[in-house]
Amino acid sequence: MATLEDQLEELLDQESFSPPDGFKEQAVVADAAIYDQAEDYEAFWAERASSLHWDTKWDQTLDWSNPPFAKWFVGGKLNVAYNCVDRHVEAGNGERVAYHWLGEEGEQVDITYADLHRDIQKFANALTELGVSKGDVVAIYLPMIPEVVVSMLACARIGAIHNVVFGGFSAESVRERIEFSEAKTLITVDGARRKGKTAPIKETVDEVIGDLVDTIVVVEKTGNGAPMKEGRDYAYETLLSKAAAEHTPEPMDAEDPLYILYTSGSTAKPKGILHTTGGYLTGVAYTHKAVFDLKPEEDVYWCAADVGWVTGHSYIIYGPLANGTTSVMWEGAPDYPAKDIWWEIVERFKVTIMYCAPTAIRACMKWGVEHPEKHDLSSLRLLGTVGEPINPKAWLWYWKVIGGGKAPIVDTWWQTETGAIMITTLPALLDTKPGSAGKPLPGIEAAVVDEDGKDVDEGQGYLILKRPWPAMLRTLYKEDDRFVETYWAKFGKDTYLVGDAARKDADGYFWIIGRIDDVVNVSGHRLSTAEVESAIVSHPKVAEAAVIGQADEDTGQAITAFVTLEGAVDDGDDALIDEIRERVASRIGKFARPKRIIWAGDLPKTRSGKIMRRLLRDIAEGRELGDVTTLRDPDVMAQLEGKIKERD
Ligand code: WT7
Repeated sequence: MATLEDQLEELLDQESFSPPDGFKEQAVVADAAIYDQAEDYEAFWAERASSLHWDTKWDQTLDWSNPPFAKWFVGGKLNVAYNCVDRHVEAGNGERVAYHWLGEEGEQVDITYADLHRDIQKFANALTELGVSKGDVVAIYLPMIPEVVVSMLACARIGAIHNVVFGGFSAESVRERIEFSEAKTLITVDGARRKGKTAPIKETVDEVIGDLVDTIVVVEKTGNGAPMKEGRDYAYETLLSKAAAEHTPEPMDAEDPLYILYTSGSTAKPKGILHTTGGYLTGVAYTHKAVFDLKPEEDVYWCAADVGWVTGHSYIIYGPLANGTTSVMWEGAPDYPAKDIWWEIVERFKVTIMYCAPTAIRACMKWGVEHPEKHDLSSLRLLGTVGEPINPKAWLWYWKVIGGGKAPIVDTWWQTETGAIMITTLPALLDTKPGSAGKPLPGIEAAVVDEDGKDVDEGQGYLILKRPWPAMLRTLYKEDDRFVETYWAKFGKDTYLVGDAARKDADGYFWIIGRIDDVVNVSGHRLSTAEVESAIVSHPKVAEAAVIGQADEDTGQAITAFVTLEGAVDDGDDALIDEIRERVASRIGKFARPKRIIWAGDLPKTRSGKIMRRLLRDIAEGRELGDVTTLRDPDVMAQLEGKIKERD
């Protein structure tokens, strides 16, 4: 019998994969006419919005009179929490499990829609008692525990704008995001478990927070005796036990803000992506159902991302709950307590739809087929990926080993900014080509354009989105000018500049190449080179730093930092490397630590002083150097080349 390797090798030649027999017959979206229907695109989106409960119907579907500031479902009123929870309870589905939560030590808690309904009402009342009201920003810094769901939805229920900070970010990053968003309330946890250890989250937050916030709600999850400050800090459980049981959701304006999520841009200052109520929920509910072929009564869906990223917001929380989905929520890492934990979870809960990042798939490939092979994965009928381009080999492994060759894969392209999936293959309607995300979803118009903004029919260029869409960001929080400049300046106010390069093939399929700005994608996590550089140069011994994303087999891109030290000192030692990496961990988060540090006597700069990162990438990845004639000092490159050779 052919080995797995041989089989995968053979499949590499197969250009496209069709859905399995019978898939189309049972699919939620089975009629290709949807692509034509979406031509009348305001009507199309209005119809998607109608699947939600509106307290007041909108009178205008789209107001694009002041581009690029879009307004969707103008005049409409709805409450996100009501749509995600109450209406399912009212429809008699209160006993349906919303989340099978699994803790690191194996504890299982099944949280029903009725459970969520109870806790969200109480927490909404508690927050109100604490003085939080509509339009206030609430920072949330929590791990993957059920309380994060309750917190986000309690905010949505009262119209407070949540600002979730991924648990892997450092306390320093939390402080910064609280400062930028002017949050006065923080919801956090005493400690967070990770791979058998407990990190003292509250204590670490206390060290940096000063009097930045008025109120901190602490979920006492691990009972590690975290410090509590009288009059400022409140235990979540105590608040819940004292709170009134009933809360009437207040209808929000369709354009009221729902949340801010900070993401990395070209400069060191993160961008506060602002999402609003009606359009966002319309976008995530529709895409979650159509792309994942979701049948809420039958499916068990698992998105293995973290709630702290947009994937978690849209496809762990809002999309799935709006659709009444039963999801899995896993507290821990993919390799703890053992490298088969993911597959044990799939088997235990009979997961039917799984959504994760290519990085995770590559890690699983590396760990070996013996881990998935220990488990019955036959429940899986649809697989998804997100966050970075997937290499065909990892795609095939996912398809064959995890999906057993019978589950279509949807490679979903989107961004924090887009709010919802934009490009993918509707699983019953389009074949998939490993490595290509597919085509724009109905209701979305994407294109590849050249430097002048002209459509490239077949070939490479800038990826753009042509029309406003309901789940799009509305602005950068408190930075309207930066919003216009970043996304709408290059090709005009009707054209959203994505920031990715892409190729369109003869069949109209999009192949994402990567970022065109100084954003690095490490394991599907977005980082700005400027952000990492500024953390590195904050070390007193460092004079200058240039960071690049270097192609990496495991993480897609990895951070390589070229570092120039203060004074005449030439090279640093291993201790200094550790110090620099630690500095980045405490400034940003462990996931941002440079994998490789290269000591540089000088950096390649143009005559105007701009660092030429392209050359640094060439040199780090061992390529022939491009044009160096524009450099102020062309000798710099020869010196650097010498350094790299010494090391390797
Ligand atoms: C950037 C957005 C969308 C949630 C996770 C990341 C890259 C995203 C894909 C994909 C190739 C992808 C792009 C994009 N990206 N999905 N399926 N194929 N690249 O959200 O942190 O806002 O990052 O991730 O470069 O611009 P994000």
